[in-house]
Amino acid sequence: MSNNQYLVIGATGKTGKRVTDRLRAARKTVKAASRSGNVIFDWNDKSSWPDVLRNVKAMYVTYFPDLAMPGAQDDIRTLCEIARQQKVSHITLLSGRGESEALACERIVASSGMSWTVVRASWFMQNFTEGLFAQFLLDGSVALPVGDVKEPFVDIDDIADIAFDSLLNDKHKNKLCEVTGPELLSFSDVVEAFNQAYHRKAAFHQVSPSLFSENLTRIGVDENAIAMLHYLLTEVLDGRNANLADGVQQALGRAPTSFKTFLQKNRHVFV
Ligand SMILES: NC(=O)c1ccc[n+]([C@@H]2O[C@H](COP(=O)([O-])OP(=O)(O)OC[C@H]3O[C@@H](n4cnc5c(N)ncnc54)[C@H](OP(=O)(O)O)[C@@H]3O)[C@@H](O)[C@H]2O)c1
Repeated sequence: MSNNQYLVIGATGKTGKRVTDRLRAARKTVKAASRSGNVIFDWNDKSSWPDVLRNVKAMYVTYFPDLAMPGAQDDIRTLCEIARQQKVSHITLLSGRGESEALACERIVASSGMSWTVVRASWFMQNFTEGLFAQFLLDGSVALPVGDVKEPFVDIDDIADIAFDSLLNDKHKNKLCEVTGPELLSFSDVVEAFNQAYHRKAAFHQVSPSLFSENLTRIGVDENAIAMLHYLLTEVLDGRNANLADGVQQALGRAPTSFKTFLQKNRHVFV
């Protein structure tokens, strides 16, 4: 069989499921891969990777929990090597801003011999609707170890639009696409916007890193996830990413989705 299928790694995740939906709507044959996906894929078990990559034309790769994790570079390198052996033509990698470890993974992809697209994203708006922070908002208290540093949160429907197009359209080949939303917001700004949109009274509190970790342990978040959030919130979120990028405009020819529009779209989550 020729390589005519599309692979999404992390297909049950926030961006992965959106890219999978778009491919299916376009009537493409999709391998929707993750530990619980239609195709079983585990970053911790390389034995199944050659099978997963067989007959694949192009793939969208999200790494979990983060490209900054030890082992991520080895995993991405091995994935690319097997993909080359299986004659995969294209890889689109989801990356994060401001992380040197993620940058190293981007370089591995760019020198893999496949055509590539890197979507280097700011923090997702959907962390507040589909992630841990949604529960904080619903509970009325968002307690994080961050001050008033600003972040240009991006709507992941914009990311999915770009990732989907990059799998089908040559114009994104061998390009870095750095994506952010259209405005800089602090976490306190986000909570305020949420309160205004939904007539809520959630409060934002800056807490110490140790109290943050204790709170997460109490609600059952696992050790690795806490360590990752700790790193992202206390080290990466230091203002280095407090600037806008024009990746959405460049890739899609339209403005990125605003936080206001995102809140309107997601009314059903909170109201
Ligand atoms: N969240 C953000 O704000 C943000 C911003 C920029 C970049 N990113 C990047 O986006 C990526 C995804 O992050 P996310 O937090 O939004 O997660 P997510 O994509 O919503 O969910 C994780 C996905 O990975 C799969 N997964 C988890 N453990 C796995 C394993 N051992 N092997 C294979 N698949 C596994 C999960 O499915 P199963 O449970 O079925 O395995 C799920 O499909 C990360 O690389 C992160 O750095 C995130």
